[in-house]
Amino acid sequence: MNLIASIRKNSIGLGIFAIVTAGLIAVTHQTTKQQIDSNIVAAQLAAFTEILPASYFNNELYSSRIELAADPLLGTEAPSKAYVGRLDDAVSAIIFETVATGGYNGDLLLLVAITKDSVVTGVRIISHKETPGLGDKVDIKKSDWVRSFENVFFGQPAKAQWAVKKDGGEFDQFTGATITPRAVVRAVKNTLTYFETNKDVLLQQ
Ligand SMILES: Cc1cc2nc3c(=O)[nH]c(=O)nc-3n(C[C@H](O)[C@H](O)[C@H](O)COP(=O)(O)O)c2cc1C
Repeated sequence: MNLIASIRKNSIGLGIFAIVTAGLIAVTHQTTKQQIDSNIVAAQLAAFTEILPASYFNNELYSSRIELAADPLLGTEAPSKAYVGRLDDAVSAIIFETVATGGYNGDLLLLVAITKDSVVTGVRIISHKETPGLGDKVDIKKSDWVRSFENVFFGQPAKAQWAVKKDGGEFDQFTGATITPRAVVRAVKNTLTYFETNKDVLLQQ
């Protein structure tokens, strides 16, 4: 009898411990997730103002996001987001979340800002797994290379020159690391092609 009472008591104790622990884990997970989400939003907002000059919009970019259907030109297999810049009511620029497929270590996630006149004003790599010291130079924290996409359009350079120098184009690659910059140049070119192809609809957003 004593044994059964003791087992019951221990079981209840263990049960309470499990419930309290699970509750603590759930609260910690929720708090951490909110913190991570708000960090991502803060990082994106900072990148927006770096790649799209303030003269192009007077709305709140983050809250004016739209969803775009998956499209090979965006490198996406699921809907992605774009952030619409407006001057008063008219669309003046769009920042696309786009995927550079074919990096050395998988996909890279990019923000590409394009004005209504099809000018790329800036690009940022917001996540990647490229090798430190090699492909990670596409990241603004490691080098200025990504700034070569400021104020470019089809014509400057010519569309056929939108490639790394090793492939006959205008954009630099890195010594011993051509795969990553090649993937990024292709992704920015594809995003601009997507914009030009869908311009009529996009500018009505
Ligand atoms: C361990 C290791 C990591 C590498 N990481 C990258 C990378 O992140 N990005 C990249 O473009 N090339 C990377 N490379 C180099 C590629 O294998 C490839 O040689 C190069 O991108 C082709 O450029 P190249 O034609 O200038 O040699 C890496 C190579 C090794 C051995």
